Order: sequence, then C-alpha cells, then structure tokens
Amino acid sequence: MSDKVKIAFFDAKDYDITSFEEANKDRGYKIKYFDTKLNEDTVKLAKGYDAVCVFVNDTIDEKVIDSLYKKGVKLVALRCAGFNNVDVAKAAGKVGVVRVPAYSPYAVAEHAMALLLTSIRRIHKAYTRTKDFNFSLNGLMGFDLHGKTVGVVGTGKIGRVFIDICRGFGMNVIAYDKFPAKDTDIEYVDIDKIWEKSDIISFHCPLTDETRHMVNKKSIKSMKKGVVLINTSRGALIDADALLEGIRSRHIGAACLDVYEEEADVFFEDRSGHIFEDDTLARLISMPNVIVTSHQAFLTEEALTNIAHTTLSNIDEYLKTGKCENEVTV
Ligand code: NAI
Repeated sequence: MSDKVKIAFFDAKDYDITSFEEANKDRGYKIKYFDTKLNEDTVKLAKGYDAVCVFVNDTIDEKVIDSLYKKGVKLVALRCAGFNNVDVAKAAGKVGVVRVPAYSPYAVAEHAMALLLTSIRRIHKAYTRTKDFNFSLNGLMGFDLHGKTVGVVGTGKIGRVFIDICRGFGMNVIAYDKFPAKDTDIEYVDIDKIWEKSDIISFHCPLTDETRHMVNKKSIKSMKKGVVLINTSRGALIDADALLEGIRSRHIGAACLDVYEEEADVFFEDRSGHIFEDDTLARLISMPNVIVTSHQAFLTEEALTNIAHTTLSNIDEYLKTGKCENEVTV
C-alpha cells in the first residue's frame, strides 16, 4: 500500500523537505511539496491526495474540512503538537486529524531559556556592539537568575523540562496548570499568584478559549513591575496591544516572543525589503527590551527528525487502520 499513499504537503520549507525525504526513504510515499499554506483558497491543490500534511499556520476550518472531505482526502496530518488551527469538531466523521504530540520538549524549553538569557544579559545588544568594535558596557546591565521566582504556566512536557532547566539555575519555581500533575514536587499556585509573585513568567499551555489573551491589561496590572514574559507557546495567549502598552509604561521589564497572535502571514517568511504592515509587531520589535524569534523554538535537528518519522507513521497507521494513537478528537 505504501507506494500508493499520496500526501499533499503544505507550507513546505527546505528544512521540512530535507527531513521528510530522509524519513520517507524506506516508505516511498508520493509527497508533493507546496510552498503555499493550506486554506480555503488553496484547498483545491489537495485533490487526488490521501492526506494533507500541515503546520501551525495552515487554516483547517469548516470550509477547508468540507472541501477535503468532498475531494476524498482522508487525513489531516499535523506536523506539530498544537492543533488550535484545526476545527476538530467539524472534522469528526469526515476527515481524520493526527498530530505529533511530542518531538523534542528540550528544543522548545531550551529556546525559552536561550531567549531569557539573551534578553536579561543583553546578549543581542552586545553581539552587534562588538561586531562594530564597540566594547563599551554602558546599558548592558543584567540581573542574576539565581534566586529569582519564575512562574510556569502549563506543566506538560515542555513546561516540565523548562522547570528542570530553571532549577538548574537556582531559581525558585512556582507553576499553574488547569490539570496539575500528581506525580511531581512542583509547587502549584493559582494563576493570580503567578501574576503577583513571579519575576519571570513562561507560557507552556495550549491556546484554548480559556487561555486566549490570558495576558491582558488586567493581568499585566497585577504582575510585578519589571516582570519578564516568555512566550514560546501560541501568540494569542498574549494580547499584543496590552503587551505593548505594558512595555511602554515600563511595567513589563522585557518580553521574549517566539510566537505572535498575527504571525500567520509573516513568520517563516523573508519580509526584508517589504513595507511592514503590522504596526503592533513593528513597534514591539523596535523596543530594546523585546526579542522576537519567528516560531523557531522547535527548530532543532533532533526535533525535525522526530517530526518527520512520527508524521509518516501516523499517516501509515491511520490510512491502514482508520485509527491512530496520535489522533486528535473532540
Ligand atoms: P502538553 O500537552 O504536554 O502540556 C500542556 C500543559 O498545559 C498540560 O499540562 C495541560 O494540563 C496544561 N493546560 C491545559 N489547559 C490549560 C489552561 N487553561 N491553563 C493552564 N494550563 C493548561 O504540551 P507541550 O508539548 O508541553 O506543549 C505546550 C505548548 O507549546 C503547545 O500547546 C504548543 O502550543 C506550544 N509549542 C510551541 C512550539 C514552538 O516551536 N514555539 C513547538 C511545540 C509546542
């Protein structure tokens, strides 16, 4: 059966093609790589394929699902963990949805710490300065992480690795999770205590109706002055305008953002030389205490290899049995 499986691969980047071609060597699936994202306008490209393979900024809403179903596409294979861009309820009974629940929590947690260290030790400033043979230290003052309180929101796979890393730095860790883990010594507190007590807050929970804009005007007000926010989860956890206001008023000390609510049209693309339309993102990027990476936290060799292998075995399992261990259901 494997030589008959046809996959339409959307939003394909060079690094995706490299890792999927390597993983596909033994399977021999027919994979057609499309640069474009999957959405209502591009869904016609999926005609004749058994499965579509998609990423974080493809839009798999009701219209796209109905269209895939009519075309006989059996499966939406997400090559990521989050599935907030898929209308899973509408897919039920029409098109299967599978994902890669874990590929390297280390990749994301380590990136969160890299952003934090870069930000508070002003590495991004020092790097450009010494490149220009400017060896002045003015304005590069940082602070010790040791002894600081970090609030971790979401203590799943990534959150827990991040907690271990923070403990290695001698930080005091408190956490909030809607479903606290029972098998740990993590100190859970309610979300108000996270806002109130944390010097640094890092987000590792999924985007849901409940978590959308959990960082907003009101919650920012109850945070410590000078708080550092790290978001490697999903952009819409943070109301970007409220964040900008918090930065401007100096209430927020720094922000480290690997994700952004309106990232879909800009992240992963080279927009240099273009007139940049998103004023909020442009203003955030212009701030000396904001670091933005473009949804890069997953991007390690280990993660990409795991993503490719798990995605192809998810497709294999689902198309053969109509079920999959990594299926997403309502
Ligand atoms: P996970 O499913 O292992 O953990 C998520 C945790 O969030 C769970 O413990 C869950 O109980 C908790 N949670 C659920 N609802 C919550 C709520 N309302 N408030 C607080 N906590 C809540 O997921 P994992 O693998 O740790 O990933 C976390 C998030 O990281 C994903 O949802 C995804 O959005 C993001 N991610 C980002 C990547 C990047 O490249 N920037 C790559 C991979 C994941």
